Amino acid sequence: MPPKKKTTKSVKKKAASAKKSTASKKASKVAPKKKVTAKKTAPKKAASGSAKKITKVNKSVRTPQSLRGMRDIHPKDAAIWKELFHNAENIAESYGFARLQTPILEEASLFIKSIGKGTDIIDKEMYVFDFDGNKLALQPEMTAVAVRSFINHGMHVDPQPVKMWYFSPMYRHDRPQAGRYRQFYQFGAETFGEKNPVIDAELIVAAYNFVKDCGIDAQVRVNSIGSLEDRKNYIVELVGYLRSKRSYLSEESKKRINKNPLRILDSKDEGDRMVIEDAPQIIDWLSEDSKNYFMKILEYLDELEVPYVLDPTLVRGLDYYCDTVFEIFYESHDEESNMKELALGGGGRYDGLVEMLGGQPTDGCGFSMGVDRLALILKQRQAQEGILTSKKPCVYMAHLGDQANRRMLKIIEDLRREGIQVKHNLAKASLKGQLEQASRQGCSHAFILGQKEVQDGTIIVRDMDSGSQETIDQKKIGREITKLLG
Ligand code: HAM
Repeated sequence: MPPKKKTTKSVKKKAASAKKSTASKKASKVAPKKKVTAKKTAPKKAASGSAKKITKVNKSVRTPQSLRGMRDIHPKDAAIWKELFHNAENIAESYGFARLQTPILEEASLFIKSIGKGTDIIDKEMYVFDFDGNKLALQPEMTAVAVRSFINHGMHVDPQPVKMWYFSPMYRHDRPQAGRYRQFYQFGAETFGEKNPVIDAELIVAAYNFVKDCGIDAQVRVNSIGSLEDRKNYIVELVGYLRSKRSYLSEESKKRINKNPLRILDSKDEGDRMVIEDAPQIIDWLSEDSKNYFMKILEYLDELEVPYVLDPTLVRGLDYYCDTVFEIFYESHDEESNMKELALGGGGRYDGLVEMLGGQPTDGCGFSMGVDRLALILKQRQAQEGILTSKKPCVYMAHLGDQANRRMLKIIEDLRREGIQVKHNLAKASLKGQLEQASRQGCSHAFILGQKEVQDGTIIVRDMDSGSQETIDQKKIGREITKLLG
């Protein structure tokens, strides 16, 4: 006798009853969370349902590449960048700065006038191009842009000081290496309209505290380059000295004697460094006013217990500075670290710049931090400490079956409206696969919804470490997650 034909109705009924309570059964079959290592997450052999299709790559097509010295910030590093931005915003707002956002394209002349010909940025590194008859530049730094914005918006009539901060991409066609990119980000702060040593000290402390807040030990190096007049007198003395030692200098420094002699003090060349050691020091050429001003800043730094060293060779590579200049360096406990010689940030006073660019005479002082360098240090540290997942506590919302999938979409949306963030992957059908993801992402608990739970109005809460499970009312999901996430 031929086998009895099943009606569609009976098939559906059977399937439904078979599916009932499978979520809790299936979930309890999944072994409790094991610590997932990087190796274990390597691509698996394709399983029947979730088989990855192997597609042929068209080798005749050249894949597009990002430009040399430019790079993507991978979503894997998003947590580090989020923290860096968050710390920057917190520091800036706690010191009373308001955020300035400007276009990345400016007239090239803005930078040429303010940073100055003869500097590396203007002579070698700026991205300049002609467009529509205008000479444009991708911003290599933000101080000149902040000044342009200050002038354009007539901020000199606002209550002084005007305090602005920024977190923006910069562009310099530098030689790429670790911590040196052609597009990089700066967090910076600028204070306009007040000349008082307490302003300079506040900026140095804010820059230092930003690095500390990121969990990085730092050292501040400070110097004063005096007024324009002080500098003129000093340069005459310095050039005389450098000419007398010309034969010991590097080719680069020989060229700089007439063009930009102060930059020779910055040179990393060993021969140059020997010459620089005995060079006249700018501090001895400061006027009484500049010297007193500088001393007051140091007193404030002592008061605030900010560790600093006086660096008589620190002059900075931009032309607009006067009096105070400073840089922040990484105090690495790792002798091998390739980040020790790279400044994490720098800044100083630029009292003549607003007027020079056509604004009302206005004093200014500020700093910029190289965020990519901080990110690199944090990333290297993460790799050394073997942290694979974000330490932020999380829970995972898992589902089994179509009805549960639809209901879960709504639950997640309701949670999002309540401000509760959860991990999930509604595109993944396999419960085992979802729980593996929960484990990999470091979730402490998984909330599992099957067809039975959809009908009961309940949900299973599974402890990912012990594998123990309990069932709760769906109405209590938000409260339960808040409790679990502390
Ligand atoms: P800067 O010293 O040219 O100063 O740059 C500040 C920081 O930006 C550096 O200390 C470094 O951390 C980072 N930086 C510079 N070039 C690169 C690069 N190619 N790749 C990655 N990071 C880099 C200024 O830009 C001034 N505007 C600072 C200032 C603000 N002065 C007064 N206010």
